[in-house]
Amino acid sequence: MPETSTNTPAPILEIKNLKTYFFLENATVRAVDGVNLTLPRKTTLGVVGESGCGKSITAMSVMQLIPSPPGKIVDGEVILHRNDGSQVDLTKLNPRGMTMRAIRGGEMAIVFQEPMMSLNPLFKIGHQIAEAVRLHQKVSRKEAMERALEMLVKVQIGAPKQRLHEYPHQLSGGMRQRVMIALALSCNPSILFADEPTTALDVTVQAQILDLMMELQEDFAASIMLITHNLGVVSQMAAQIAVMYLGKVVEFADTRELFHHPLHPYTVGLLNSVPVLGRKEKDLVPITGMVPLPTEEIPGCAFAPRCPRVMSICHEQQPPLKEYHPNHQAACWLYENR
Ligand SMILES: Nc1ncnc2c1ncn2[C@@H]1O[C@H](COP(=O)(O)OP(=O)(O)OP(=O)(O)O)[C@@H](O)[C@H]1O
Ligand SMILES: [Mg+2]
Repeated sequence: MPETSTNTPAPILEIKNLKTYFFLENATVRAVDGVNLTLPRKTTLGVVGESGCGKSITAMSVMQLIPSPPGKIVDGEVILHRNDGSQVDLTKLNPRGMTMRAIRGGEMAIVFQEPMMSLNPLFKIGHQIAEAVRLHQKVSRKEAMERALEMLVKVQIGAPKQRLHEYPHQLSGGMRQRVMIALALSCNPSILFADEPTTALDVTVQAQILDLMMELQEDFAASIMLITHNLGVVSQMAAQIAVMYLGKVVEFADTRELFHHPLHPYTVGLLNSVPVLGRKEKDLVPITGMVPLPTEEIPGCAFAPRCPRVMSICHEQQPPLKEYHPNHQAACWLYENR
C-alpha cells in the first residue's frame, strides 16, 4: 500500500453535498445524493462501492458531462482550486461554456473503461491527440503532432511513430487504453478521473496500465481519482479511499487505515466479500441483500436494511459523515456519542 504523509496536502478539488438526479417520466433517480469528498493535490484517491452507487456519475458531474435532460445537478458545490491560485465552483459554470471547455481536457481529464468512448474511430491516433492539444494550447500543427508522438512514447506504445498514423481499430485493447491515457494527459491536467480504466483488459495488461498510471502521476504531478470495483487495485494504487453507497460517501480514510480499521459495516462487508489481504476464497462472506434502487426514498441510513449491526435510529435518521479518528470519516450511528 502506498505510504501517506501525516500532513494532508492542500486540496485540488472539494465536492460538497453534491446531488445529481435523473428526472425520468415516472421516477427520480437520485444517482448522487449528497456526496462530500476532498481530493488532495498529487494524490491517488480510490473510489469504491457496489455497482450503481454513483461513482461514475460523481466523476461525470465534476466534469460537467451529465446528459441534461434528464440529468441535472440539483444541489451542492464542486470547488476546483486552479493552478493560478483562484477557485471556481464548477456547478456554476455553463457546461458548454468557454471556461468549462478550457477546464475539461485542459485541467481535468477522464479515462473511461471503454476507450472507444473517447476515441473517434474515424480519425488517426496522432491527429486525435494533436487536436486535443491544439484545443487547449496555442501551438502549431507540427508542434501538436510532436507532442502527440512524445505522449505515445510516454505511455510506452511500441513503434510510436507508426501508431500516429493508425486508426483506433488497428490497436489492441491495451494499446487503445494507453492511447486514451496519452490523450487524457496530453494537456497536462492536474486531475485525472480514471473510471474502471482497466476492467476490460486481461490481468497482465491491467497491471501494466496501472503501473503506467502510477509512473505518469509522478511525472505529471497530477491527482488521480481512481474509480473501481477492485479493492485489490485500490489497495495498491490509492493513498486514500472513499467508499460510496447509494449516492453518498459513507467512509473515507487513508488506505492502510481503511483496510485495517474499517468503521462502516458496509466497508467491513465489502472487505469480507473479496479476496484481499490474504483472505482465503472459502472465508469470503458476501453482503446480504441488494443495493436498493436510487428511486426509493429511504428515511434513515440507506444501508440499514442490509446492515448486520443495525439499530433503531438507523431506520429513522441519516447519519452524517463525521471524522471519528484523525483523517478517518464515517457516516454511521455506531460511532456517535461514544
Ligand atoms: N442517463 C441516466 N439516466 C437515468 N439513470 C442513470 C443514468 N446514468 C446513470 N443512472 C443511474 O444512476 C445511478 C448511479 O450510476 P453510476 O453509473 O454512477 O453507478 P456506478 O457506481 O458507477 O456503478 P458501476 O460500478 O456499475 O459503474 C444508477 O442507479 C444508474 O442506473
Ligand atoms: Mg461506473
